Parts: sequence; C-alpha cells; structure tokens
Amino acid sequence: MPTTEKNATTSPIGRKTPRIDGPLKVSGKAMYASDFSFPGLLYAVPVEATIASGKIQKLDTAEAEKMPGVRAILHRANIGKIFRSVLVGNLDGIVDERRPPFEDDIIRYYGQYIALAVAGTFESAKAAADAVRATYTEQKPNVNLDLQPDNDPEVVETSHGPTKRLQSERGDPESAFASAPVKLDQTYVTPAETHNPIELQATTAMWDGSMLTIYEESQGIFNLQGVLAQMFGLPRENVRVITRFVGSGFGSKLWPWTHCALAVAAARQLGKPVKLVLSRKMMFQSAGHRPRTQQRVRLGATTEGKLVSLMHDYVNDLGMLDGYHENCGEATPFHYSVPNLRVKWGLARRNIGAPTAMRGPGAVPGLYATESAMNELADQLKLDLVRLRVLNEPKIDESLNIPFSSRHYLECLQLGAEKFGWSKRNPEIGAMKQDGLILGWGMAGCSWIAGRFPAHASVQLRDDGTARVASGTQDIGTGTYTILAQLVSDKTGVPLNKVEVVLGDTSLPAGPISGGSLVTGSMVPAVFAAADQAITSLLTVATTTPGSPFEKRKPSELAFQNGRVFVKADGPANGVPFADLLRRANVRMATGYGKSEGTLEDKKPKVSMHSFGCHFVEVIWQPAIARLRVSRVVTVIDGGRIINPLAGRNQIEGAVVMGIGMALLEHTVYDPQNGAPINSNLADYLMAVITDVPQLEVHFLDYPDKEINPLGARGIGEIGLAGMAAAITAAVHHATGVRVRELPVKIEDLLTSSILS
Ligand code: MOS
Repeated sequence: MPTTEKNATTSPIGRKTPRIDGPLKVSGKAMYASDFSFPGLLYAVPVEATIASGKIQKLDTAEAEKMPGVRAILHRANIGKIFRSVLVGNLDGIVDERRPPFEDDIIRYYGQYIALAVAGTFESAKAAADAVRATYTEQKPNVNLDLQPDNDPEVVETSHGPTKRLQSERGDPESAFASAPVKLDQTYVTPAETHNPIELQATTAMWDGSMLTIYEESQGIFNLQGVLAQMFGLPRENVRVITRFVGSGFGSKLWPWTHCALAVAAARQLGKPVKLVLSRKMMFQSAGHRPRTQQRVRLGATTEGKLVSLMHDYVNDLGMLDGYHENCGEATPFHYSVPNLRVKWGLARRNIGAPTAMRGPGAVPGLYATESAMNELADQLKLDLVRLRVLNEPKIDESLNIPFSSRHYLECLQLGAEKFGWSKRNPEIGAMKQDGLILGWGMAGCSWIAGRFPAHASVQLRDDGTARVASGTQDIGTGTYTILAQLVSDKTGVPLNKVEVVLGDTSLPAGPISGGSLVTGSMVPAVFAAADQAITSLLTVATTTPGSPFEKRKPSELAFQNGRVFVKADGPANGVPFADLLRRANVRMATGYGKSEGTLEDKKPKVSMHSFGCHFVEVIWQPAIARLRVSRVVTVIDGGRIINPLAGRNQIEGAVVMGIGMALLEHTVYDPQNGAPINSNLADYLMAVITDVPQLEVHFLDYPDKEINPLGARGIGEIGLAGMAAAITAAVHHATGVRVRELPVKIEDLLTSSILS
C-alpha cells in the first residue's frame, strides 16, 4: 500500500470551499435534463384525468389527432407494451407508483395520465392534449382526512419490500403507561406537503435500435436504469441514464415516475427523441408528495420527569395501490431512554397520487410528533424543555442494545441553549416582551440516520498534473461535485481547480442514490480507495520506467504526498511531481478503482449510527393583528466531521427555512369533491421564502465518527428540517398559549389565544 501522509495545510477537508460547479450554474452553462436538444426532437404532453375515482368510459382523440404538428395521441390501445417492474434486492427496482402508465382504465387519483399528445412543438402538443376528451363513470373519491389504519396484515409489502407494522417494542408499554404517575396522550397531524424544486421533472428519451438513452433529473440514476430496463424488457446495459445537474429534488426525484415511461414508450413508437416536461400542476398530482400523517403519542413519566413508557402509533395516507410507508417511527426507539416502548404503524389508502420520500422522510413528521409530546410533557411537569431531555439521555441505543457510534446530543443542547440565551427564558405564557410584542421561545431535538450505501468510484492522475474522479452518483444541489473534488485533492495534493469531477451517468462506476443524506458518507471510502489504487499504479510507473529517478527502487520505498513522489527515507524535499513521471513513461493516466460496502443491509450492526442536533427558536407574536413571525433560530448539529463547512451550513440553513414552511405554511389541499390538489401552483402553495427567513445561526460540533468512514463524515442534508416544526410550535405555545397539534399553524388557530389585546 502506498503511503499517503496528509498535509494539514494543503488539504481542503474541513475548509470552506465554494462550489466548483458554481460558475457553470450562474452563467447558465450547466445543462439540466430538459436543456438537451436533439435533431428531430418531439415534445410530449400528458393528458390528466379530471376525476379521482372511476373508470374511463370513452377517450375521444379524433379532434386532437387532426391538429397541426401532432404526430400521435398515444393511449392504452396504441402505446405498446410497458411491463411492470419489481424490486431487485433492497436497493434496486424501487418505485413508489408501480403500475405502468395506461395499464388499465381505472382512475385512482386526480391527474393520473390517461393519454399522451406528441407533436413537433411543445405548444402543439399542449393544445392537442387539451383537445382530448374523456368521459368517465365516476365515483366519489375518498380523500378523507381522518386517518385510521386499513386492515393490513402485520407485514406489509411497501415500496422497499416487506415491512413489519410493529416497528419496535420493549418492556410492557401498556401497563407502564397505565401506572405512570404523569401521562400524556396526544395526537399530532402533519398535512400532505408537495416538493417544489425549482427544476420541474423532465425526461428526454431516445432509442438507437435496442439501446435507450435517457436524460432525466434523477436522484438515483442506477435505480432508474434498472426500472426502465424491466419496464421495456431490455438488458440493463442497454439503458443509459444521464443526469448532469439537478435543480433540487427533496426526494421527489429519487424514484421513477410514470411520465418517464411514457416518454420512453412514445420515443419507441415514433422513432424520434421525445421530451416530456411536467407542469407545476402535474408535480402536485403524479410525482410524489409527503403524505399526511396522524400520530398518537403516549408518554408516561415519573413526577421527576423520567420516562417510563413511550407509545407511538402512526398512520400515513397513500394512493390506492402500492405501499408507501412514511417511517415516522425512525428515531423514536433510540432517541430517549425509556424501558417500555412500542412503535407501530398503519396505512390509510386514499384517492391521491402516490406519496414518496420528502426531505427527512419519516423522521421529520415523526420527530414533530414525539418532540412536541416531550415539550408538552415538560410543561405538564413544570420542567424546563431542555432539562427533560437531559434527564432522559440514553447511554446506548436501547432498541438494539448497542452503543452509538458517536452521539453528542447533550452537548448540542448545551451549546444551543448557551448560544440562544435559553437561561433567560421565563416559562410563563406571554411573559416575555420586546418592543411591545410578545416573544415565544421553544426548542426541540432532532436526529437522522447515518450509514453508507454501496459506492464505486474511479480516480485518475493525469500527465498534465490534473486529476479526474468519476462516479455514477448525482449532485442534487447539495455540493457533491465539490466534495468529491475535495476528497481527491486531499488524497493527491492536486489543487481543487485541477480536479475534474464527473457524475450523473450510468456508464460511470455505480454510485449511490442522492438520498438519505448518505452520498458524502458513502463516497469517502470509495474515492479514497480509488485514489490509493491510482497512487499504487503511479508508483509502479515510477519504479519501472527506464530513466525514472526512482527506477531502481521498490514501490514500498516510495511515498506520495502533495502531488509528489519521493523516497520515504529521504523525505519529501526532493519529490518529483507525478505528471513528470507519467510524461517520462508516456503514460497518460494512472487509474484506480475503488468501492465501499454499504452498511444499511447489516442486520446485526455493532454500533448505532445517527446524527443528532437541536433547534432553539424565537417567534414574535403581535396579538393586535394576530401576526406571527419566526425571528431567530439557533441550530446545533452533531453530524460528524464537516468536509465543507460552507456547503454544510447552507444545507442546514435551507432545511431550517423549510422547517419554517412546514410549521407555518406548507400544506397540499385535496378538494373533497373531486380529489384534485387545489393549491397546485406556486401562488397558492405557500412555502417559506426569503422574507420569512429570520436570523439563523448554525453550529457544527464537528466530532469525526470513525465508524462511518476514515474522515468521520456523516450526512447533513436532511437533519436540519427534523425537529424544527416542534420547536416552532413550542415557541408559538409559549407566546400565545395555543397548542397547535395539526400543522401548519394557521392564524385561525391563534385567534383563540388569551394573549390577544
Ligand atoms: Mo431524502 S427525501 O431521504 O433524499
């Protein structure tokens, strides 16, 4: 093995590093999926069902077919075969809406695609789609908001395979709750939320014989490749997926949606490249959303505030088919010390489009419920909110009986409280004032999974002194291009601006999905292994090239540091740049391949890996006009080693802002009459925008987690959203006396406040 000693002064690890892809983005040169154009390109626009439950009786395409520029109106009878895909193992073949488009005439949600207009321009395709007439036999859709679990078996077939509804259990939670001196039993509701990345979902598909190429803004190109291969009956290697840049996804682009198969099928029928870009409205109907959840939390405690029982029973709604499980119980089993616990879930099917993962799936709505319950219990006990958490800090992961790899939750709480000035909190409702307005202070903890997906990468050292790193993962706006450049620069000493990073192509070594905040943690060992192999190859070149200064040496006598090869015994002073050695040998590049194993499949893990954190929030309540604003947030994250504090802070800040939206603004409203998401546009679906952003402070503890990878870096894309809504609703309660248990907090909720003047 080559010696790679790190030079702390030149390594970019831990240094604030601006995005290497920033200039491409701000100059408009970055090519997003729908930016690519091809000769003969046709445009496709789907026709959307205007009912949410029923059957297509007749589809009248005659008028649309005659319209100028129209090449085809495709539907069930003429689109050709589209097969059903299935799961392959645990990480491949994942789809949240499994039914291939047009498979039957049954309508199960509003906006389901019933036909596809294809034309020479987008405008003519849109006009033709609008001219398709459908008649239906219609039933009243079920979009009932009260979620009671369907009668599912104890093991449910979910999008990720068979999953037990009894998620976690220890002790005897029922009787411990019954006999607990202090009890809390509350139900918390989170609404459907729709992802609104700036970049709409889009597919451009083209065939060359039996070879299929897709340009798509995917968070998981290899999964998409595998699913399309199955749907079109192709060998996997016949499908190539390209995703150079993604204008955010927040989970909506993790798994394939039905429009992608439609574009592929249209391109096959017409023998031309076909581009299909969803409208914003379609993004609300047929490309996923975070489902509504209804969560009952029961806490039993001693009068001193020690938890004795915790029961978390939750239900999420979903479409009529499939089994999307919003894993609200993810953090519940280990977050606090409690001897008696049960976490159980159920599903409630509705006439809505399939839900999917949205930033912090499961843990975000789940921690809203459990952290809100903790805050309510603290108030009931007249205990400080932080104090209750400190009292219930576990020594190990009590659900698995294994130690945490690296948990510094108490330090998060302590630092957050200190930076926020929490000790000055007067717990009395409405008691804290500033400039005649009322301040509310709240807090909550958070947690998110850590681990690795399997990952592969290649690294090249080239004869012009540059390096190249490639992996078939994606940069969804989080900074993956930059992180990979930092990793290679750290290992090889090649400066950042001389590292080329290539992502987003299934012809590259297989990389992980951009999901679960796991890309960075997964890529570190793979890139390091690839760099090590490239260095080994380089040292062999150095010792075998006639005339090389190291010709008579053994590779084991040499070392590589800061881009130079030298004899270990002589030290680095007389090192030779690697480009010189390669040029002398007429070798263009020394290449290495590396891979790292995944951790998530490990059924018997030795350590419990998670990130932790907390938020302290101040709201300003103006009772005279019932105006509420979040005015200040302090967030502390224990996310392992932070490779790029600039991108890292940006991730947490973005998530915190999204948390403000979750608490106060975001909700998708389904019309009870026709099942349509009625606020399906950016004017009516409110999200936190720049004017909602308060003073934000983000602190990282920066403890390396050596269990996850050599740098100790965990993921930080999602954790910043977890816990935010609970911290905000606690602050709202502190200011107004109103306990809101159904998000988002609405002005109407606050009109019952006794603190109205
Ligand atoms: Mo995240 S929604 O798990 O990509």
